[in-house]
Amino acid sequence: MADSSKNPRIVVGHRPAEVCKKLADFIVDDMAKKSGPYHVAWSGGSTPKVLFKLLAEEYLDRIDWSRLHSYWGDERMVPHDHEESNYRMCRALLLDQVPVTEDQIHPVHTELMPEIAASDYSETLLENLPTNDAGLPVFDLNILGMGDDGHTASIFPHQMELLTDKRVCAVATHPDSGQKRVTITGPVINASAKVIFLVTGARKAEKVGEILGGSAKAETYPAAHVQPENGGLYWFLDEGAYSNR
Ligand code: 6PG
Repeated sequence: MADSSKNPRIVVGHRPAEVCKKLADFIVDDMAKKSGPYHVAWSGGSTPKVLFKLLAEEYLDRIDWSRLHSYWGDERMVPHDHEESNYRMCRALLLDQVPVTEDQIHPVHTELMPEIAASDYSETLLENLPTNDAGLPVFDLNILGMGDDGHTASIFPHQMELLTDKRVCAVATHPDSGQKRVTITGPVINASAKVIFLVTGARKAEKVGEILGGSAKAETYPAAHVQPENGGLYWFLDEGAYSNR
């Protein structure tokens, strides 16, 4: 199946471990298609924990870790040692277990005030990533999750304007907790060479089905508006998340 954003490629695994293995193998293959630095935006939340552990335990010798640069598509504005930190989770489960150096890890500076952190991270991305004709940073791989409400990164349904925000990063607000977040904006997501939705669990199936089925209801879900301009769009799903197709 073509991997154009209009016709995303769907990869299904029986369980999260299997779909994460398919994604890990995808990363190995994609890295082999280019040389030099390989820039990955990791998603947050709980879903990627399985992927991080798998990469650390079984891909130590299958990935040239010296090429891999880590970023985050969004980050909660909490200290880096806070239990809700996306950076902390990825660092503990993956980055501290593989041979990467500090200059390959690019966290959001959450010690700053939110607006300052957002503009600081915009600079970090522009300094470290190649840019497209529009001057936007281009990730080689942008791994996204999807929330129960259809949000992705930290673009929530009540802040759809972040899908077209001209900035590279912006401050978002969690609709329930009010927690401030830094998120990459829609244009940066869509500038990525490849965008991967890694979504597992039956509770996500209804919205996944509405998005992949082109339902009008999906228009209110930020995840439905991810359409990489020149890149590929992939949905890596377990059977639970794919059960409404
Ligand atoms: C975050 C994420 C967010 C996450 C989804 C899915 O910081 O929370 O980046 O977009 O990917 O909310 O979260 P789960 O994997 O926990 O379901």
